[in-house]
Amino acid sequence: MKSVMNLEGQKSSATLVLNQMMKTLEKQGRKVYKFGFGQSPFPVPKFLVDELKKNAFQKSYEDTLGVQELRSAIADWYKQKYSVDVDKDQVMITTGSKAAIFHSQMINRERNNVMTPAWVSYLNQNILVSQPHRKFMTTFENKWQLNTQDMKSMNNDDHIIINSPNNPTGLMIDMKKFSQDINPNTIVFSDEIYSLLSHLNPTPPTMLNFRKRTIVSNGLSKWAGAGGWRLGFAVFSKDLLKIRRQMGVFMSELSSCTPSPVQHAAIKLFREFHLMDDYLKKSNFSLHVLTKEINKILHKSQIKFHEPEGGFYYYLNFNNYKDKLAKKGIHNNIDFCTKLLNDTGVAVLAGSYFGHDDHDIFARYSYVDFNGSDVINNDNLSYTDIVKIGKKVLEGTQVLVDYLENL
Ligand SMILES: Cc1ncc(COP(=O)(O)O)c(C=O)c1O
Repeated sequence: MKSVMNLEGQKSSATLVLNQMMKTLEKQGRKVYKFGFGQSPFPVPKFLVDELKKNAFQKSYEDTLGVQELRSAIADWYKQKYSVDVDKDQVMITTGSKAAIFHSQMINRERNNVMTPAWVSYLNQNILVSQPHRKFMTTFENKWQLNTQDMKSMNNDDHIIINSPNNPTGLMIDMKKFSQDINPNTIVFSDEIYSLLSHLNPTPPTMLNFRKRTIVSNGLSKWAGAGGWRLGFAVFSKDLLKIRRQMGVFMSELSSCTPSPVQHAAIKLFREFHLMDDYLKKSNFSLHVLTKEINKILHKSQIKFHEPEGGFYYYLNFNNYKDKLAKKGIHNNIDFCTKLLNDTGVAVLAGSYFGHDDHDIFARYSYVDFNGSDVINNDNLSYTDIVKIGKKVLEGTQVLVDYLENL
């Protein structure tokens, strides 16, 4: 049977395979350090859960582009938080921001550019429908930024996705500089899903602060801990409203609308954003403390890494152990991650899934294996309290380092 989808030979979702392996180990009674997933460790804020309960009765199909009141609330949020003039008609609600990314990549059929390493789905969405795309391999030494030559190669028909704070690297982009260096006509899709998890800067800028021909995506999945709610949104600069309309057509044929109760509940979130202050302060403080402690452990090894500035990921380079790994028959990052999991119970996700070459031994390490409710539901937690809450994360990091040092 012929299909427009390029499904033959596609790898099963990396995280599903990992999940299966972890389950098997747990069944054998082994301790597993779950550093493979990109899920927020924090609970959904209580006021938001209550609001969803209140709105459970909402049953109508909504406007495909999103509930008007929610779009207005998000537009006003951009005005207040980022001082950008956004109108509700520039906002579109999507079933997770992943849908916005997919629609945008499909509409700009010719020249989709993806900087790698990159979140798995940017590349896979293109591969799935045999969409032509260009991959720009950035380097550890250049802190995973595009070089001048790559920037210069962007022309007026190009569409490029950037992501800051970044999954998998944990680093942020200097948006002002980026917007000065890139062709002003290139469409920039700025994935800002981790924006409010910038550990030391509660409100980093949005790309909408700096340029036209920009689409920004965001949502509740990471900084509000509500990945499964599937509430994302995209904001279009005024000169790209045509793309918004096209995306609306696309979405009307797929999901019709984002679930109604979730959209109605989210109105309160954006209208009364001060209700998030305490939650975001606690989330960022705990992630900051854990990075400081993880750094200390990693510095005792030959693992190369950049300290994350936001989100909850490290992108670790194990190439300094290549010779020792080769003696054990390990020559690529997938085999390395499988062996590491089997030998130590530490689960990390191989660099190949982020578009990296197999033979570069990179892996993404998510430091989320702790109970985020202990952070959110307690007040005045000290540095030491967070270290106690994150005990398993730190223990697992030490297990990783010991394993490598004793190869
Ligand atoms: C970089 C990045 N962008 C987008 C998404 C998707 O988010 P959503 O749940 O809003 O679809 C993720 C989720 O893991 C992500 O890591």
